[in-house]
Amino acid sequence: MFSLLRWKNYLPTAKGVLGINGRNLELVYPHNDRQFFPNVDGKIRCKELLAAHDIPVPKTFHVVDGPRTLAAWPEKLSKVDDFVVKPNRGYGGNGIMLIRRNGRGFISSGMTLDTAEISFHVVQICNGAFSLDNISDTAFFEETIVNHPALKQLIGDDVEGIADVRLIVRLQQPIMAMIRIPTGESEGKANLHQGGIGIGIDLATGRTLDGCYRNRIVTTHPETGRAFRGISVPGFADMLEFSKHISQIVGLGYIGIDFACDHRSGPVALEVNARPGLNIQIANQSGLKSRLR
Ligand SMILES: Nc1ncnc2c1ncn2[C@@H]1O[C@H](COP(=O)(O)OP(=O)(O)O)[C@@H](O)[C@H]1O
Ligand SMILES: [Mg+2]
Repeated sequence: MFSLLRWKNYLPTAKGVLGINGRNLELVYPHNDRQFFPNVDGKIRCKELLAAHDIPVPKTFHVVDGPRTLAAWPEKLSKVDDFVVKPNRGYGGNGIMLIRRNGRGFISSGMTLDTAEISFHVVQICNGAFSLDNISDTAFFEETIVNHPALKQLIGDDVEGIADVRLIVRLQQPIMAMIRIPTGESEGKANLHQGGIGIGIDLATGRTLDGCYRNRIVTTHPETGRAFRGISVPGFADMLEFSKHISQIVGLGYIGIDFACDHRSGPVALEVNARPGLNIQIANQSGLKSRLR
């Protein structure tokens, strides 16, 4: 909140900035019926629901919800070289590991790991270490998405991980968008709290605007020096189209959808949030309230 207030003080468009109370009172409570929260609060169920309605999602390889499924993962993943481990009820990139097979072991964020270490991480996920409410959770293994080549211009060549596109949708209308990119420090995740950079997207053209890094506005990448503006976000038109359907499918009137754009299959929906964060306003230098009007 502090950073949003600080930003509010020096931007002329500040009037339309939405705070957490405003988001809850004006958007989340009136538009999101509690009975539909379970459609999005777990990523596994949300992906199943979207896939059943022909929205592309990353493939779920295996779900761990107890000792038997825990013991089974090495065999289930034996033919897969790249995969992601996630908490079903995680948020903000916490607990997500991008893993690559490396000889007889694995590698993640530059660290070598063995099967037992991945199992330990999975157990931590199941114990609720990364879940929304710290109660026990389910872990799952997911297909690794590979960035569309057009995104290399934004991310740089040596940074691992994918960009994601956050779309805010109200009553089936997309009202704001940003693309978040991973950085050297964000360990393959694009979430802003992990050190990712959020870059506003012009909804009409699908092109990038300026960025936001650690709650400051930036026009060039702090690590590579590349300018952010004017890059056409691959798959953006499809994402806009999918987002209208997703809002209907999950039964919620105010959501944040995270998409990625795979180099082969194009846009995929990663997850849906019923209480999307407010930093997207900094990345767009524009308030959500003014968009609602
Ligand atoms: N299947 C995947 N392949 C590659 N990277 C991924 C994948 N899923 C997630 N990520 C990375 O992790 C970030 C957070 O993933 P997400 O599913 O949105 O969970 P969270 O609820 O923690 O935000 C994404 O922005 C992306 O950078
Ligand atoms: Mg997310």
